[in-house]
Amino acid sequence: MGRHSIDKVYSPLMRPVDSGVMIAPAMSQDPRIPQNDVGAGYRARRAEIDAAVSRVLASGWYILGAEVAAFEREFAEWLGIAGAVGVANGTDALALALRALDIGPGCSVVTVSHTAVATVAAIEMVGATPILVDIDPRTYCLDPDELAAVVDRWRDGGDGVPPIRAVVPVHIYGHPADMTRILPIARGAGLRVVEDCAQAHGATLRGARVGTLGDAAAFSLYPTKNLGALGDGGAVVTGDPELRERIVALRQYGWRERYVSAIPGVNSRLDEVQAAILRVRLRDLDARNARRREIALRFDCALAGTGLAAPPVELDAVHVYHQYVLRTPGRNAFRAALAARGIDTAIHYPVPVHLQQAYAGRIPLGPAECARTAAAADEIVSLPMFPELTDAQVDRVCAALATLRI
Ligand SMILES: Cc1ncc(COP(=O)(O)O)c(C=O)c1O
Repeated sequence: MGRHSIDKVYSPLMRPVDSGVMIAPAMSQDPRIPQNDVGAGYRARRAEIDAAVSRVLASGWYILGAEVAAFEREFAEWLGIAGAVGVANGTDALALALRALDIGPGCSVVTVSHTAVATVAAIEMVGATPILVDIDPRTYCLDPDELAAVVDRWRDGGDGVPPIRAVVPVHIYGHPADMTRILPIARGAGLRVVEDCAQAHGATLRGARVGTLGDAAAFSLYPTKNLGALGDGGAVVTGDPELRERIVALRQYGWRERYVSAIPGVNSRLDEVQAAILRVRLRDLDARNARRREIALRFDCALAGTGLAAPPVELDAVHVYHQYVLRTPGRNAFRAALAARGIDTAIHYPVPVHLQQAYAGRIPLGPAECARTAAAADEIVSLPMFPELTDAQVDRVCAALATLRI
């Protein structure tokens, strides 16, 4: 995210703030607190990661080898699912899962507009038509009533929209989507379910880890994610061994064996260096998620009495706080107030997919026309959130939050 100069923060233009947020005239001399710090994650495990990388470099085998196979086993075991397949990134993971389920041209796939553009790009990569529906404003995840409404309207196609064949719920920010309601709607309409778990490694719903609830799930292993490589990476997981075999073939030219393409595939391989790093990272993923929850609890407490609501967590869910997201109509002033105290924030995401130039006006929408998504995009703000935030840094963010009056 951009760095704020002190001039900018103290510009007189910032004074008549865009809501009731009062900015106390504070200027931090302390070091800046970044919104995220991928390098801190590396430094915390430097010796183990360096050893893992050296081991691979010395092995002479760099793509799809023993490290990838071991990571796939360990990740599947950690999730509690039969199979995982390492691929090049999270976007490919979604596209390969959809392709393996025979979702392509002539099919529509329902997902949300409140997501990384990658979710929608993956649906179009396989030649399918995305239908974008609105969110539950509490969790920012897919609203099951919207899914039911578009299924009623377009299950068998119509108005130029192909029949709906799949749904991609996104567990955004690390909070599970309402799978308890989404799954029966999907099953009742014969839809395949591909979970987008890019932001939710370790989140649970009724005790089950997300990624184990649909037909298949896609994980991004991009460096900023809760489980992140030090380059690109992704994984598809599924409990269906035949589906897993299909994805294994699809990720490498459709090979059933070397140089024998049984089906048309692509190149989406995970490399050995990233797999070895991910194996190190997987070992303390639960602890790092617990630290995220601890930080979130501190922020929740600091918000009490400020007029800003802490992000709600549904009773049957465990949130893994990929992002800690607040909502305020006075976002600019709020961000400026934190920036003045040396605290960076970010917006995930400022423009919903259905309003992006690449998609605007040509994607079918659910009945609410994503109005709640658009309203959220104008007000959301993400606080600093990564496991290596020190207690002193968390204290500083809490102290800044406590001084705000909304
Ligand atoms: C919700 C969501 N889906 C999909 C992706 C795509 O992952 P990648 O960047 O690894 O392709 C991301 C990552 O940005 C994401 O946040």
